[in-house]
Amino acid sequence: MPVKRIAVLASGRGSNFQAVIDAIDRREIPASCCGLITDNPGAYSIERAEKAGVPVYIVDYAAYPTKEAYEQALCRVMEELSADLYILAGYMRILGSGIVKQFHGRLMNIHPALLPGFPGLHAQRQALGYGVKVSGCTVHFVDEGMDSGPVIVQACVPVEEEDEEETLSARILAMEHRCLPEAIRLFCEDRLMVEGRRVRILPGRTASPGNTRHTP
Ligand code: GRF
Repeated sequence: MPVKRIAVLASGRGSNFQAVIDAIDRREIPASCCGLITDNPGAYSIERAEKAGVPVYIVDYAAYPTKEAYEQALCRVMEELSADLYILAGYMRILGSGIVKQFHGRLMNIHPALLPGFPGLHAQRQALGYGVKVSGCTVHFVDEGMDSGPVIVQACVPVEEEDEEETLSARILAMEHRCLPEAIRLFCEDRLMVEGRRVRILPGRTASPGNTRHTP
């Protein structure tokens, strides 16, 4: 199977980006990471990329007069990279509809809640405020809405009695670091099929002999 090219967009800390490049290093994802794109020249994810030998593309939001100009520059970088998949991993801006349309089916996002609950910013704070007993994380394809695209992978995380935003966020983050590489792996193995809102996960190569669709 040809190795896919993936690119990651991250605005800050980049722990999900790190989880992805670590999984590639361990050969758990048949992909190469062709770039880290960031809107923030101070992002810690830049250091992570440099350490891993991943090319860095800074499209500094503050350097552009308008959001449109910024998005044009971002789009040019994305086109140049010509990745099979672009992953929003802590990318803190909403992509304009032009980019979402152009890269439809090739944009993935990770969100720290069980969507459709608690979309947008501070999802963990929203979950605690609502009083849910279970939260989690969601990896989904990106559409033009806010955290509203078809769901690829979800996992639950319990909310503990004594949780505060920080402790719940940390527990969810540990789960994100498992779910995001898993969703990328499925994409890179050509095992995701979108049917309307549902993302079907096709069997892998080690599936039972009765299923010949993906048997080599
Ligand atoms: C994660 O919780 C992610 O779900 C959210 O932003 C956070 C980014 O963390 N979209 P990191 O930069 O990957 O450490």
